[in-house]
Amino acid sequence: MIMSRTEAAPDQARGDLTERLLAGLPAEAVLTDPDVTGSYANDMASFCPAGAPAVVVLPRTVEEVQHVMRTATELRVPVVPQGARTGLSGGANASDGCIALSLTKMDRILEINPVDRIAVVEPGVINAALSRAVNEVGLCYPPDPSSWEMCTIGGNIGTASGGLCCVKYGVTAEYVLGLDVVLADGRLMSTGRRTAKGVAGYDLTRLFVGSEGSLGVVVRAVLALKPQPPQQLVLAAEFASAAAACDAVCRIMAGGHVPSLLELMDRTTVKAVNNIANMGLPETTEALLLAAFDTPDPAPDLAAVGALCEAAGATQVVPADDAAESELLLQARRLSLTALEAVRGVTMIDDVCVPRSRLGDLIEGVERIADKHQLTIGVVAHAGDGNTHPTVCFDAADPDESRRARESFDEIMALGLELGGTITGEHGVGVLKKEWLAREIGPVGIEMQRAIKQAFDPLGILNPGKLF
Ligand code: LAC
Ligand code: ZN
Repeated sequence: MIMSRTEAAPDQARGDLTERLLAGLPAEAVLTDPDVTGSYANDMASFCPAGAPAVVVLPRTVEEVQHVMRTATELRVPVVPQGARTGLSGGANASDGCIALSLTKMDRILEINPVDRIAVVEPGVINAALSRAVNEVGLCYPPDPSSWEMCTIGGNIGTASGGLCCVKYGVTAEYVLGLDVVLADGRLMSTGRRTAKGVAGYDLTRLFVGSEGSLGVVVRAVLALKPQPPQQLVLAAEFASAAAACDAVCRIMAGGHVPSLLELMDRTTVKAVNNIANMGLPETTEALLLAAFDTPDPAPDLAAVGALCEAAGATQVVPADDAAESELLLQARRLSLTALEAVRGVTMIDDVCVPRSRLGDLIEGVERIADKHQLTIGVVAHAGDGNTHPTVCFDAADPDESRRARESFDEIMALGLELGGTITGEHGVGVLKKEWLAREIGPVGIEMQRAIKQAFDPLGILNPGKLF
């Protein structure tokens, strides 16, 4: 446990820290106004505990990040690396007296290389900005979290985020080939490669993906790109029960189909989305399944998948007319969490991923848990991955409801583990699921994770209090 100097003599220490930071950063990159620094305290898991940053820094160069880390090491001040703070587990929440290290100003796309099929980017590049830039040269960067218009590539790497396309294209980890990382003491390390293959030594690149800012600060990333597929066409299928929709998912996957997305929204989610956005989604359905194909001729695949949905008991199967209508359905899907937040004011979002053959068991269990605790839990899921977001809606001002929310949130993770799943498919551990990491990976696993942390960050200054 390190003792930050701000605990000893807050004003004096903050003054020293600011002065030292200003020795290697321009004045506009060092923010100390408490009204401003306070706005960097949280990511989107707003109910998770968060401290007050002593200072926010917004470096623009690798050298400036190195200066921040050298200063932090010298003064033993904790550093919380941050992207756009759209995370959902409190992983970017500040700790008291920390330097909130926002990488949002390092937002240049340094290279797009169609022959090598790579992009080299700084961490603050917005996911959608990269997507659009590579689309212009006929390439695509698949990982597409729902927050893609806001979230940064650095944040995506920190949380190993996923998205809607993962069922066909995989998650962020599969696209990160190499990294430049500033270590806790300010040294610069390069990992990985920019080649199509490479197996030299331990895979430190992969280690950093999902490390939640606890091992180093990513300042540059080499990302793999794919040829841009045709625009996807979506089919919407309505079901009288979530179990029937899950059965359809199993039939689709067992049938060898390769949808470009396979998403599920339950009735609560559908209604919540209609309430905030008037999307005209069918409210009588218990579960809405969206399946899409981005092949040159998606019609036969859509017909086959439609037939499988009907065989599983779909009450309606409606293919979108065109790409524009497909995009509207996806927009509705991406709104799910914002919409569920409006139900009771606050949400606690589970991210349990189970083998997809157990998806039905998980969703049935969530219904039981919601009944038991008398709570609204909306389920939106990357069904094709078995990755579900049972979203507990609650009023944070009501202590009893908040307690029941936390209990149900935990029971859902316990159920996920029982079913052979993981507590988090794509949002990370952060502070929200800290107690659960040990339950998933066991004492030996935790010991080895701590040993890795110790090797990279012996003083424990990088994002303390997260993960374990
Ligand atoms: C989504 C985010 C919550 O799937 O992961 O919308
Ligand atoms: Zn998701």
